[in-house]
Amino acid sequence: MLLEFFSIFFISIWNLFYNIFQKIKDFFLFFPDFRFFFLDLILYFLYIRTSPFSLRYFEGKNLPVTYDELTYGEIYYFTARNILKNINFSSEDLLIDLGSGRGKMVFFASIYYGARAIGLDIMPTFVKKSSLVASKLKLKKVEFLEQDFRNYDFSKSTVIYLAGTCLSDESISLLLKSLKSAPVGAKIISLSYPLRSDFLNVISKNKMSFSWGSSMVYVHEKLSIEK
Ligand SMILES: C[S@@+](CC[C@H](N)C(=O)[O-])C[C@H]1O[C@@H](n2cnc3c(N)ncnc32)[C@H](O)[C@@H]1O
Repeated sequence: MLLEFFSIFFISIWNLFYNIFQKIKDFFLFFPDFRFFFLDLILYFLYIRTSPFSLRYFEGKNLPVTYDELTYGEIYYFTARNILKNINFSSEDLLIDLGSGRGKMVFFASIYYGARAIGLDIMPTFVKKSSLVASKLKLKKVEFLEQDFRNYDFSKSTVIYLAGTCLSDESISLLLKSLKSAPVGAKIISLSYPLRSDFLNVISKNKMSFSWGSSMVYVHEKLSIEK
């Protein structure tokens, strides 16, 4: 019991310092661009009373997913840039973030690349607040939808990003069925584990930094489906 308490305490302190270090890195890499500075400032004030980490206590109860699947974590801007650079992302792409949370990946794709981006999240507060930020920053090519990403039509997307480390096996298998609708050649990015399917081919894997620590980033290419 005491050992468990100290190990959780130690991990929390380590994570705090790790996050401070990564935020400083993000600051020096991106904040000369004032759009990222304003974005982070708005996000900070919008979530000052409801932390994204505790939102699932209030909104997670009656949703069709398990409580664990709503575990929150976030991407850094420099990680988003490294992932998107690696797949030659451009303003012609349409990115879908599966479980967009505060919307950082979606905002990054729009602000840095000028691309269209859609964030899907099952928790209404994330969708409302992200939509508000998009309208304040006058980002016209950004959209946030309150939607279960396991049932979505991906036929128009070119890049799909899934930070789904805590997804259940059932959710992964439902999502794989929906991903069949993605066009051939679409890039599908998953964290922590590759998506196993005969229509997905892993084309790269790299270790990258996220708010919870480092994770493997798998890039898959959508293949044609044998009939
Ligand atoms: C780890 S957070 C990722 C946040 C964001 N993509 C990022 O990388 O910064 C996962 C998000 O997925 C959402 N989520 C989990 N299951 C979902 C589902 N079936 N449909 C839509 N959103 C879901 C949660 O509400 C949470 O906001």
